[in-house]
Amino acid sequence: MKQPGKWWKNAVVYQIYPRSFQDSNGDGIGDIRGIINRLDYLEKLGIDAIWLSPVYRSPQDDNGYDISDYQDIDPMFGNLEDMEKLIRKAGEHHIRIVMDLVLNHTSDEHPWFQEARKGKDNPFHDYYVWRDGEEGELPNGLRSGFGGPAWEWVPELGQYYFHQFSVKQPDLNWENPKVRRAIYDMILWWMDKGVGGFRLDVIDQIAKEPDQGITGNGPKLHEFIRELSRETFQKGDLITVGEAWGADVERSKLYSNPDGSEFSMVFQFEHIGLDQQEGKEKWDLAPLPFLKLKEVIDRWQRGLYGCGWNSLFWDNHDLPRIVSRWGNDGTYRAESAKMLATLLHGLQGTPYIYQGEELGMTNARYDIGDYRDIETLNMYRERISMGYSKKDIMESIHAKGRDNARTPMQWDDSPNAGFTEGTPWIKVNPNYSVINAASQVDVPGSVFEYYRALIRLRKEYPVFADGCFQLLMREDGDIFAYVRENGESRLLVVCNFFGRSVDCPLLKEWKAKELLIHNYDEAGPGTMLRPYEARMYLHR
Ligand code: NOJ
Repeated sequence: MKQPGKWWKNAVVYQIYPRSFQDSNGDGIGDIRGIINRLDYLEKLGIDAIWLSPVYRSPQDDNGYDISDYQDIDPMFGNLEDMEKLIRKAGEHHIRIVMDLVLNHTSDEHPWFQEARKGKDNPFHDYYVWRDGEEGELPNGLRSGFGGPAWEWVPELGQYYFHQFSVKQPDLNWENPKVRRAIYDMILWWMDKGVGGFRLDVIDQIAKEPDQGITGNGPKLHEFIRELSRETFQKGDLITVGEAWGADVERSKLYSNPDGSEFSMVFQFEHIGLDQQEGKEKWDLAPLPFLKLKEVIDRWQRGLYGCGWNSLFWDNHDLPRIVSRWGNDGTYRAESAKMLATLLHGLQGTPYIYQGEELGMTNARYDIGDYRDIETLNMYRERISMGYSKKDIMESIHAKGRDNARTPMQWDDSPNAGFTEGTPWIKVNPNYSVINAASQVDVPGSVFEYYRALIRLRKEYPVFADGCFQLLMREDGDIFAYVRENGESRLLVVCNFFGRSVDCPLLKEWKAKELLIHNYDEAGPGTMLRPYEARMYLHR
């Protein structure tokens, strides 16, 4: 088995949600040329790879996570030539392109599905998951991730097809070796084009057994992934990351096995789902249990040490903005954004920065008519019909809606934040006149410069990648503190997670050590931590 180079252990990944990053042709939708125009910015930040949310041909029912042609680019984003140019140009900026692979489902407009629904004896029929039945009598009660049943009736066939997401995202049948082979050939084709890796969308859901009620973590999951990896990824030196909502530490040791048999790393969500009512949906809000957050991060850091590899993230295109969520997007916006970055970037794993996070971009508070996300809109309709008040629903959307992360990137204070010269597909957050890249790049003390410095530190000190983790002050209700240690040096990270000043006695023994980075203009002299204050010390 080929041992990959593991360059990704020292890498920082930046996620681009293409439709919201940079428009180059005035149609109001971000595109590939727009990304090429911003490569200087990304190189300056210091990132090593771009995870590009899907740009394949797609009817855009779920913003590109519904693919109708894996080997073509959607005209709204450009064409294959633009994509090849992006791969090449990014390379010149020392940046690799990580493609988003959606292998659990296709669009219902994909030719495979179009064929599949022509008849039970069509050679493509078995590419999807079908069950015989009667109209109105669903095979079982499984629900789709975007609301409603997971089964859709096709009258001509007298059958239901299975979809874990929208009706327009039929699930692929991984039991069929022809499906798997077609997927491998497609991946090898992209590898030939020079892509640097892949992010595997909801990979824990491919091995479904709907008759058993199993959606995630099916019995054949890791068998499928090992075959996928052997037939494709292991033929190159790639970064591969498996999105797995249902992963625990034990399973993640398989996903990110250091022998390279599955992926480079896992992208799991346990830390980021803590602020919801137990057993309910993300929309059912609850305050963050801070001690539980410590417990979860501690368990993952120690659990994967030496036997696996994690992704480190607060944000992505499915999550609200962290500064609004667990920081303070008012008075202490910059301080709290930097504190959260410090906490995350000191950990073991590969950090992911979601576009705009490096500027401290915030959630948006729109009325329902300004939202675009299928998940948000379906939930709104469903809850209204269930009798929830509009006020409560809007509160949930403002806190957790995916469009919080999907508002256009705020480049400068010109109209539409420099994102487009046309009408943006979704409203720009009105705070762009204050929060934007132009006011932060090369400006000492900005959130952008802070992220840049954190990235530099990770490259400079091996302890970030290889140090073991020890949680300190476990029961403290304000401070998140930990040490990383690799035999050569010790790194201390202390973060005041909240908006009140607190004393941090352990700083007494560290005060004389080298202060690597801190988030106030002046490092405080004593052991007091100001609101959201964060520091990193090094002891050699
Ligand atoms: C996870 C993706 O991140 C999300 O945006 C998408 O809606 C679902 N998978 C379905 O592909």
